[in-house]
Amino acid sequence: QTAEIGVSGLATMGRNIARNLARHGHTVAVHNRTDQRTKELVEHFSDEGTFVPAYSAEDFVRSLERPRRIVLMVPAGKATDAVIDEFTPLLDQGDVIIDAGNAHFADTRRREKALSDMGLNFVGMGVSGGEEGALNGPSIMPGGPKEAYDSLGPLLEDISAKVDGTPCCTHIGADGAGHFVKMVHNGIEYADMQLIAEAYDLLRSGLGMDPKAIADVFTTWNRGRLDSYLIEITSQVLAHTDAATGKPFVDIVADEAEQKGTGRWTVQAALDLGVPVTGIAEATFARSLSGNRTLRDAAKGLPGVSGAKLEGAAAEGFAEDIEQALYASKIVAYAQGFNEIQAGATEYGWSIDLGQVAKIWRGGCIIRAKFLNEITAAYDREPGLTTLLTDTSFAEALGGAQDSWRRVVASSAQLGIPTPGFSSALAYYDGIRAERLPAALVQGQRDFFGAHTYRRVDKAGTFHTAWATDDRAESEA
Ligand code: 6PG
Repeated sequence: QTAEIGVSGLATMGRNIARNLARHGHTVAVHNRTDQRTKELVEHFSDEGTFVPAYSAEDFVRSLERPRRIVLMVPAGKATDAVIDEFTPLLDQGDVIIDAGNAHFADTRRREKALSDMGLNFVGMGVSGGEEGALNGPSIMPGGPKEAYDSLGPLLEDISAKVDGTPCCTHIGADGAGHFVKMVHNGIEYADMQLIAEAYDLLRSGLGMDPKAIADVFTTWNRGRLDSYLIEITSQVLAHTDAATGKPFVDIVADEAEQKGTGRWTVQAALDLGVPVTGIAEATFARSLSGNRTLRDAAKGLPGVSGAKLEGAAAEGFAEDIEQALYASKIVAYAQGFNEIQAGATEYGWSIDLGQVAKIWRGGCIIRAKFLNEITAAYDREPGLTTLLTDTSFAEALGGAQDSWRRVVASSAQLGIPTPGFSSALAYYDGIRAERLPAALVQGQRDFFGAHTYRRVDKAGTFHTAWATDDRAESEA
């Protein structure tokens, strides 16, 4: 029997993608490095659709209709290269390999080049939504050649999440564009999670609310403009009680956040591109800080404010202030992420439709939210928008939020509650809108110690001041 598409790598994500395809009536060849997983899949899920099990790379390739379409769902890095090397000698011109793992976009660019030189199509494809999304409809971000998408697209759109009937899948751009966009998605995910965590911390430590009451606050917020998957699961996590101790679940979990690396990649790429993604960077560093036990133990005795709470009039309206600060900081984090996509597109020659990116993130993925409709609308209004912050609707929201936002940041500093996400978002906002920045002084310092030169506000050219001489004469460099 010939299969329409094949999936190799049958751990949870791969298995669920294969099942999703089969449930949509596609015949799926399934293959795994070890046979056990293939057997299990066929044994347990054959009633969901048609699977063609293959117990060798040769059998797998032979079972596919041509041009062959092979989805790889294996760990990023060496494992991916190994599987590609195993399959390529068995393939023919025009066949398509789809890497659905969380690959680094630079690896995807390299692989795409190597495979296209062999006459093969390589599609680096971001998939978001975790296990549940893979099975019931993820958000899909495929890169690679447009021609590959023309034949592959309908199938991917078929298994993707849908919002108002629109598939959460679109061709992102050439070679590594799909994985780049997935990387930034994860960076934004880090920022979003950190901001929510700070809101929780302020409600808990600043207002003295307990986790159950905070869960209710998030449930209420989830009915408004913050409506999103991450807010929804936040209330569920906060409402959960640990069975063994009867304590709030959040109190028995070690407060050391881990990471698999996509947030770090987002920040590294942004540093190279010169795009300030302060929200993502602070979120990534906040995880590193939390996980650095040695540092935290060493710092335990440092003087500070702890245990202080807002009371009386000061506490009044503070929860609403936090909602405002959260929304404003979220806008900043997304604006920064979209700027990174914009810069990546320019650097690597991709033509990425930012409004479409927001559209396919509305469903299926971890950062899915009502808010993304606003972003699509903003790019519809002005496709060349420099920053989302100046879009009329976001600018209005920021204007409405800023008093609250400033109060929250000021109070958190006074209470000794760390809010790197809220604070850095506000600093970014104030930074980009400032008429004059102290960068002028930095330029003066650079010229002083290194003759690095500076430009003047009143005439063109590059100048240097002879700082070591008495007259400190200026010359044109
Ligand atoms: C998704 C998630 C997924 C994964 C993260 C977790 O979009 O479905 O982002 O890719 O759960 O990579 O990342 P960390 O382990 O780094 O938090």
